Amino acid sequence: MTTETEYNQVSCSEDEFVILKALLDASGEFVSGSLLAEQLGISRPAIHGKLEKLREQGFAFEAVRNRGYRLTQEPEVLHPALLRYYLQDAAAELDVLYFPVIDSTNSEAERQISYGRNSPFAIASSCQTKGRGRLGRDWYSASADNLYLSVLFEPNIPPQQLQHFTLWAGITICRALQPFTPKTKLQIKWPNDLHCDGRKFAGMLTEAKMDSDSLRSIVFGIGINLNSNPSSYPKELRKIATSLYAINGEEVPINQVAARVLQAINHAYEVCIHNKTTETLADAWAPLSSLNGKAVTALQGGTAISGIASGIDTSGALLLTQPDGSTIPVRAGDVTMKK
Ligand code: BTN
Repeated sequence: MTTETEYNQVSCSEDEFVILKALLDASGEFVSGSLLAEQLGISRPAIHGKLEKLREQGFAFEAVRNRGYRLTQEPEVLHPALLRYYLQDAAAELDVLYFPVIDSTNSEAERQISYGRNSPFAIASSCQTKGRGRLGRDWYSASADNLYLSVLFEPNIPPQQLQHFTLWAGITICRALQPFTPKTKLQIKWPNDLHCDGRKFAGMLTEAKMDSDSLRSIVFGIGINLNSNPSSYPKELRKIATSLYAINGEEVPINQVAARVLQAINHAYEVCIHNKTTETLADAWAPLSSLNGKAVTALQGGTAISGIASGIDTSGALLLTQPDGSTIPVRAGDVTMKK
C-alpha cells in the first residue's frame, strides 16, 4: 500500500526486527553471530553491517569473539522495531505507524483511513507541529521525550455504546502506567486528564465521525509527558504540568510504556464494545479519581457549578454534592479545584 502523507513514516526492516527480537529475547545474554546469520540466510559480515545501522539509531551492542553480540542499550526515543516487539510482548495486536514528526497523530489517523488503511491501527510520533488539545486548545508537543499516540477504530455501532470510552481509557491507561511510577499514585482528573500530585501529565482527546445513527470512526489520541523535564516546558505550563520523569526521578522506558498504553486503549475499547469487564464504570473510577471529596467548580457551557466532587454516575457525569445534600451531575466541561 502507498501512503500519500506528506510526512515521513519510518519503519524497520524485517531483518532488523529479527535481529533485535533475538537480542531482546536473550535478555542481555549473548546471541551468536552465526546463529543470527543462519536465521536470516545472510553472511556474518552482513549481520555486522546491520548492527552498525542499528547503532546509528541509538542501540548499543557488546561484541565478544566466540560468544556473539549482546544488547546493552536501547534508544531513548520511540523506535518502530521496539514498539512492535513490546506490543507483541503485551499481546496487543495493532499496526503502529511511526512518524518522527507529524502535524497531529489524530489528523494522520484520519488521513490514513482516507487512503484506505484497514482499522484498527495506531499512529505514534516523537513530535507534533500542530498537536490538538480539548476545547480548541493546543497541545505542547515539541519534546521527543514525550509520547504522542492515536488509535483509530471503525466501530459502526450506535454512539451510545462508546459514550464511556474515554473514561474507560483513562482508567485502563492510569492502571497501565502505575507500575512505572511505583512510589507515587497516578490519578484521573475528570474527564480526560491524568494527574499526579495536582499536576497534569497526560491529556486525552477523542474525535468521532458519524454516519446517520452509527459511529463510523473514532480516533482516540493521548499525549503523555514521559521523560521530559518540566523546566523545559513553555512558561505557562511549568506550574501546572509534570512528567513521569519528574514524578519518578528517573526515566521510564518509552517504547515499553507506549506498548502498554496501546494495550490499555485496546482493552478500554473491548470493555465498551464487548462488555469485557466485571466492574462498573463508577467503581473502577472511584479509587483513581483526583477530585473525590474536593471542593470544585465546573464550567459547563457558560455556567459555573460548585460543589464537593463525589464520584461519577452511571452516565459518566461528575457528581457535585451541594450543601443541602443533593447532587448536581456535570456532563461536560472544565473543572477547577477551589483554592
Ligand atoms: C487535552 O488534554 O486537551 C487533550 C490533549 C490530547 C493530545 C494528544 S497528543 C496525540 C493526539 N494528537 C493530537 O493532536 N492530540 C492528541
